[in-house]
Amino acid sequence: MAKITIFDHPLIQHKISILRNKDTDRKTFRELVDEITMFMCYEALRDLPMQDVEVETPLIKTTCKELAGEAIAVVPILRAGLGMVSGILNMVPNAAVGHIGLYRDEETLEPHEYYCKLPKRIDERQIILLDPMLATGGSAVAAIDFIKQHGGKKIKFMCMIAAPEGMKAVTEAHPDVDVYCAQMDEKLNERGYIMPGLGDAGDRLFGTL
Ligand code: PRP
Ligand code: URA
Repeated sequence: MAKITIFDHPLIQHKISILRNKDTDRKTFRELVDEITMFMCYEALRDLPMQDVEVETPLIKTTCKELAGEAIAVVPILRAGLGMVSGILNMVPNAAVGHIGLYRDEETLEPHEYYCKLPKRIDERQIILLDPMLATGGSAVAAIDFIKQHGGKKIKFMCMIAAPEGMKAVTEAHPDVDVYCAQMDEKLNERGYIMPGLGDAGDRLFGTL
């Protein structure tokens, strides 16, 4: 069973409300995506393995904890997932970064792959898949399929806003993938946009409106 985490933290809710506002400028939009991803990253990486380390404080030697050095791969779904990469790398600067290029056909809403490059030893890594929008779920399901075809095993998916349809599609297709979502919205409209949503995340991040 997939674990679904929806964030009710006031700082995240506040920032998501600003993201949704059609008058929020591009610079602010990018900064907010970055900040929200950082907050979510704390929770998504809560179960990273740790090991003991001896530390000498100015007063005494003591045993502390450090990260056990699990290899992490961050994988944005192009384009919009790119906006979330720096938020993760601020927290785990040594993570490897892979890319999956997918676009959604505007008529059929089906995802089409145009690029896939994943880090080596993908089977050993904790993979964090990133896409701000989970609408029908077609793109996220296809991206997880690709990662698994390339040997990926430990996958978490992070998004900013999800429609119930997309959440259902991902968790049913990939029950082994935990999902971290800043806010759940009401529904999809007839064009496959999340309502109330924030519009087209890629266009708002990259100025292609
Ligand atoms: C958007 C978004 C997701 C996808 C979600 O990308 O970033 O990847 O749609 O929709 P789905 O859940 O119905 O598949 P889009 O295809 O518009 O490409 P872009 O990021 O290049 O703008
Ligand atoms: N992709 C987006 O960027 N926004 C939506 O609402 C749906 C898909």
